[in-house]
Parts: sequence; C-alpha cells; structure tokens
Amino acid sequence: MILLSPSILAADFKILGQQMQQVEAGGCDYFHFDVMDGIFVPNISFGLPVLSSIKSATTKPMDVHLMIEEPQRYIDRFKEAGADIITFHQEACDCIDETIDRIHALGLKAGLAIKPATDIKVLEPYMGKADMFLIMTVEPGFGGQKYMPSCTGKISDLRALLNEKGLDTDIQVDGGITKENVDVVLDAGANVIVMGSSVFKGDISANAAYFTEHFASYKA
Ligand code: DX5
Ligand code: ZN
Repeated sequence: MILLSPSILAADFKILGQQMQQVEAGGCDYFHFDVMDGIFVPNISFGLPVLSSIKSATTKPMDVHLMIEEPQRYIDRFKEAGADIITFHQEACDCIDETIDRIHALGLKAGLAIKPATDIKVLEPYMGKADMFLIMTVEPGFGGQKYMPSCTGKISDLRALLNEKGLDTDIQVDGGITKENVDVVLDAGANVIVMGSSVFKGDISANAAYFTEHFASYKA
C-alpha cells in the first residue's frame, strides 16, 4: 500500500488548519510533522504546542519526524501532543532499542531515519522491530531542496534486504519528491511518500488528489 504523507513544513502557517483541510479533501494518509532543533540540523521549525494545536484540524495520523539530538528525551511529550508515528534519526540517538521500545510501549508506531550519507547497514539490527525506515533523499533541515539521485540505490537495496528477510516494513522517503520523480522512488520500493512543496504549493487539493490517484493506480 502506497501512502501519502504531506509535510506541513511547506504550508502557509497563518492558515495552517485551513490548508490541512484542503489537503485532506484531496486525499492523504498521514500528515508529516518536521521537528528541527537547530543542533541536529541547521534550522528550527516547530514543536509540541503546534502539534497539540493542529491535532484537532485533522482525523489523519500525525507522522512526526524528529530531527533533534537525543530524541529519547521527548518521546512521551510528543505522544501527549498527538503523535501517532514517531520517527527519529539513527545518527542522533545512542539508545535506539530503548527508544523504539518506549514508542511502542506508548502504543505508537516507531520509525528510524537515516541521512543521505548514512549506510543502510546501520538499520539492519532494527529490522523486524521498527515499523518504518525513513531514507532521507535530501540533507535534512529545509523543505524545497532537490532530490539526491544518489539515494535511489539505498531505497532499492533496503527493499531487497527487507524482502530477503521476509519483512514488508514501510520505507518512507522524504525530500525533493515531485510529480516528475515520484515513480523513481516507487519503483525503488518506497511506499510512504513525504511531500512538502509538491503538495502545498499551487492548488493544494488538486495536488493531493493527483498523488492519491497516482498511488492508487500504481503497479510496481
Ligand atoms: C526536510 C524535511 C522534509 C521536507 C520535505 O528536512 O524532513 O519533510 O519538508 O519538503 P520537500 O518535499 O519540499 O522537499
Ligand atoms: Zn521530514
């Protein structure tokens, strides 16, 4: 199943709730919520109070992407604020097993993310345990960047490795995905597609509807 997770980082924040409803009207599966701490990545976005506030603007699961150092410090508070899925970075955490366990104990899905330069081998110990792996397809920190073609092979290698192990774990991709290149990541085996600019710029409902229909009719 291919899922669309529009990233609200690309929304117009003064009318965020309204824009989320426009997306939902077009069709989406999750909302992607990018948290940046200015340390793990060179940018600061938004955090707990914003998540609590927008939770009531949608019935869709909140897919929280933590780009923060020592994410283990904030798992409980993101659950309280309304997270349904929490993804954190392998590079930012020295207690990955415990952090996944904590996310699961709170009844949420756990994702593990890697930056473009990180080898997919680091994910292997968590296969069968994490619910989702996130392959960043840009350097995390900013929306609106260009897709890095060097990441395509990581997606297909990861899908092959999961298949070998008999696992159908979700592979999320995030960064620079557009109408023009979305089939590249789908063909490589990604099935949870994050899109900021491609959904929130222009006709928001029409963009969401386009990708929802495209995913429904896509055959690998
Ligand atoms: C980047 C974020 C992305 C970003 C994607 O660090 O993790 O979720 O919002 O935006 P686009 O789709 O515009 O590249
Ligand atoms: Zn993200």
